[in-house]
Amino acid sequence: MSTTQSTVETTVAEPLSAAEVQRLRLDFPILGEQVNGHPLAYLDSGATSQKPLQVLDAEREFYLHENSAVHRGAHTLAALATESFENARATVARFIGADDDEVVYTSNATEGINLVAYAMSNASAGRGGAAAERFRLGPGDEIVVTEMEHHANLLPWQELAARTGATLRYIPIDEYGALRLDEAAGIIGERTRVVAFTHVSNVLGCINPVEHLVALARAVGALVLLDACQSAPHLGLDVRALDVDFAVFSGHKMLGPTGVGVLYGRRELLNALPPFLTGGSMIVSVSMEHTEYLPAPQRFEAGTQRVSQAIALGAAIDYLSAVGLDRISAHEHALGQRLVEGLSGIDGVRVLGPQSGQPRVGLASFDVAGIHSHDVGQFLDDRGIAVRVGHHCAQPLHRRLGVVSSTRASTYLYTTDDEVHRFLAGVADAVTFFGAHA
Ligand code: ALA
Repeated sequence: MSTTQSTVETTVAEPLSAAEVQRLRLDFPILGEQVNGHPLAYLDSGATSQKPLQVLDAEREFYLHENSAVHRGAHTLAALATESFENARATVARFIGADDDEVVYTSNATEGINLVAYAMSNASAGRGGAAAERFRLGPGDEIVVTEMEHHANLLPWQELAARTGATLRYIPIDEYGALRLDEAAGIIGERTRVVAFTHVSNVLGCINPVEHLVALARAVGALVLLDACQSAPHLGLDVRALDVDFAVFSGHKMLGPTGVGVLYGRRELLNALPPFLTGGSMIVSVSMEHTEYLPAPQRFEAGTQRVSQAIALGAAIDYLSAVGLDRISAHEHALGQRLVEGLSGIDGVRVLGPQSGQPRVGLASFDVAGIHSHDVGQFLDDRGIAVRVGHHCAQPLHRRLGVVSSTRASTYLYTTDDEVHRFLAGVADAVTFFGAHA
């Protein structure tokens, strides 16, 4: 039997009222669209969130009034663009409790994880001098992930292990999808150099016990990377309180645009890590034989940067902060519980992950006996209800739970009770429809 339990996040804040949600929705015109003759019920925010007008306007304002490359021009527009770009970085830093120079812009979370993994293999190949010693891996060293990881937090480590001769190990999950913490202490040991795991599973919605895993990693001097893609937008993120070395998340899942993500790293680690991508605007000096790199964050931001996206990410964080992450989280907690309770009451439906009454964020994935997730998704789409189907980039997790794929409904601050109700009615009707035609 597993000893694992998710961290219990006490929900003390007042959930958003129905009237507040209706007011917020006016900022998201896409939510008023008709799809297949029905009002859109967008339950796929776990894949990508919708964007409020304030975020779209921030990007447009930049192009209308400030468009210029950052950190390289002597003219007024370049100075304005640089100021806005760096102000947005400060907004991100405040949001996660970091210092500005500990925030690196990336394309998305996937790139952030690859950045760390490739920089570590550059160190393993001898780059970075003595300062990079702690990033060097070789045969006998171990990297630890979990069985519930999104492929983005698995494949980069598989590849790093293959390049360096290190061994990849994983903390298994039990039949409910919970981490086997009873096994974790035997897996994270003297050979472990990196522990990389997700804060919140994109399939299960469970909230992992970060403190516990960080304590195990600290006891053996291993580095910790946290995949915060599904937590930062919904629960917020405090990198100092969680005491992680690196954390990644994507802007597009938190009301921001695509094309911008964040890698947080402790200052001393980022400055000791050899670069990943190399090129313009990340150097102190270059000769034909040698280059001296700038400190973080510029040492990881080669080439012309994603300026409008970064500024819009800042606007997205301002929007979330104005509503209040604690209230958003309380709203989604209630929706998540409603999803699980409703799904659990439908014959033939198996909810993956924490069961009714257990902590989870506002998403739920499920399997319907005898019905492929694509059929469920298509049936719901015919009613204007958007969900994600498939393996959600987590094949090992699905394999362990004995299913090929699942259907996932995921909520956000703009999701209404009525949408959840329509979704549950749709699933019940899908079961009847496909059951009748089996
Ligand atoms: N990682 C995103 C999801 O779970 C794309 O849908």
